[in-house]
Amino acid sequence: MNRYKISTSISVVGKRLLNTVTGELYELTTAGLNLVAALNRGEADEKSTLFKRMLLEGVIVRVDEDLKKERFHLQWHLLNGCNLRCRHCYDEKQGSSPLAFEQMLTVTDNFVVFLRKTEFNGELSLTGGEPLLFPRLVELIEYIKSRDVFIALFILTNGTIPFGPELMAALTKHNVGVQISIDGNEAVHDEIRGEGNYQRSLATVKSLIASGVYPMVHYVIMKRNSVVIEEFLADMLAAGVKRINFSNLVPIGPGAKEVALSPEENATVIEKIAVLQHKYPGISMLARRPLWHLAGSTGLCPVGLKTLTIDANGMYMPCRRLPIILGNSRTDTFFKVWFTSEFLQKMREREKYVKVCGKCPKADICGGCRAIAHAVYGDAFAVDPSCLLASKVV
Ligand SMILES: C[S@@+](CC[C@H](N)C(=O)[O-])C[C@H]1O[C@@H](n2cnc3c(N)ncnc32)[C@H](O)[C@@H]1O
Ligand code: SF4
Ligand code: SF4
Repeated sequence: MNRYKISTSISVVGKRLLNTVTGELYELTTAGLNLVAALNRGEADEKSTLFKRMLLEGVIVRVDEDLKKERFHLQWHLLNGCNLRCRHCYDEKQGSSPLAFEQMLTVTDNFVVFLRKTEFNGELSLTGGEPLLFPRLVELIEYIKSRDVFIALFILTNGTIPFGPELMAALTKHNVGVQISIDGNEAVHDEIRGEGNYQRSLATVKSLIASGVYPMVHYVIMKRNSVVIEEFLADMLAAGVKRINFSNLVPIGPGAKEVALSPEENATVIEKIAVLQHKYPGISMLARRPLWHLAGSTGLCPVGLKTLTIDANGMYMPCRRLPIILGNSRTDTFFKVWFTSEFLQKMREREKYVKVCGKCPKADICGGCRAIAHAVYGDAFAVDPSCLLASKVV
C-alpha cells in the first residue's frame, strides 16, 4: 500500500491549509477536514477526487518507496572525530569545520528538493569519523524521515560504541540499516583497528541481531588482511550475519601507508570469495563493485551517475574516496553541483574520457574504480591499476 502524508510545507490552520512556501491558502470543506484526519490515521481514500486534487497541488505527498524509480545515494560525513585510529583510514582526524546542526537541516531540505525534481528515491548513509559520536544523531534521523520524499537511511559505524536505547528505537521505527566495519579475524582486525576492538564490534553485531536489526559487515581488503577472510567468515556465520560488503583499500590520506593488493592478488581474492559464496549460500558476500564481474557480480562505479558525498567540512565530493571538491553544501545546491560540474559530466561520458576502462567490453558492468585510479595516478580518468585484464583491452 502507498503511504501519503500532508506535505511539510503545509500548515493546518483551523479549517484552512497554508502553504508556507508559496503562500497559497486552501479553505477546507467538511470532506477536506475528514480527508486530513483520515490521512493522519493512514486511512485516506486514494481514489477520491479531492485526494487526487490535493496530490496534484502538492498538499499531499507520497513518502514510500516507488520501486520504479532509481536510488540516488548520498554519503554524508557528519564529523571526522573518531574514537579509533585505524591504519588504513583516509580521514585526517584534525582541522575539519563541520556544518552546524541548522545547516544540516537546510542541506537535508535541499536534498529533498533535488530528489523530488530528479525523481530519484533517496538513499542516505550517515557516517564520519564515527557517527555515534555525533550528539544529535537521533534528532537528525527524525528530521530526515519527516521530510516529503522516500529516503532509505543507513548508519556506517565502527561498532565499538554501544547503541543507546534512543538510537535503537529510532533504528527500529524508521527501518534504518546499519553497516559495521570488521577488517579481519580478531588478530588482524585489532592490528588494524586497535586492541579489543574486534570483540567490541562483534558484540554490537550480535546485540543488533538479537534485537532484530541485521547489520551489514564491511571489510576493506588490503595486503594485511587478505589471507584471513575465511576465518573472518566463520565468525560472521556463527554470529548470524547475512550480508558482507567487501571493498578495496583506496590508498589516500593517512591510509596511503597501507599496502593494496597487486592486480593478480586482487583477482585471486575475488575468485576465492566467489568459491566461498558457493560454499555458504546463506550469507551474501559478492560485492557490487568494479572488478567483481570476476565473481559473477556486477558493479558499475556510480560516480557521476547516482551518488554524491558531503565530507566532514561540508564540501561536495563525487565519492569520499575521490578527493575532488565539487562545491560547498553551505552555499551550493545539489541541483547546481549535479548539473553544472564539468567533472561529473565527463564521468557520464566514460567511453569518451576514461582511458582503457571506457573502451573495455566490461565498461557497462565495471568501469574500474575511479578513486583507485586517482589515488595511484592522480587522474580519475586513468585505467584502474588494480585490474588484471586492463592490459588485454585494445
Ligand atoms: C571512514 S569510515 C566511517 C565509519 C566508521 N568510523 C567505520 O569505521 O566504519 C567508513 C568506511 O570507510 C572505510 N575506509 C576508511 N579508509 C579507507 C580507505 N583508505 N580505503 C577504503 N576504505 C576505507 C572504513 O573501513 C569504513 O568501512
Ligand atoms: S575507519 Fe572509521 S573507525 Fe577507523 S579511524 Fe577511520 S573513521 Fe575511525
Ligand atoms: S579494464 Fe577497467 S573496465 Fe575493464 S575489467 Fe578492468 S577495471 Fe573493469
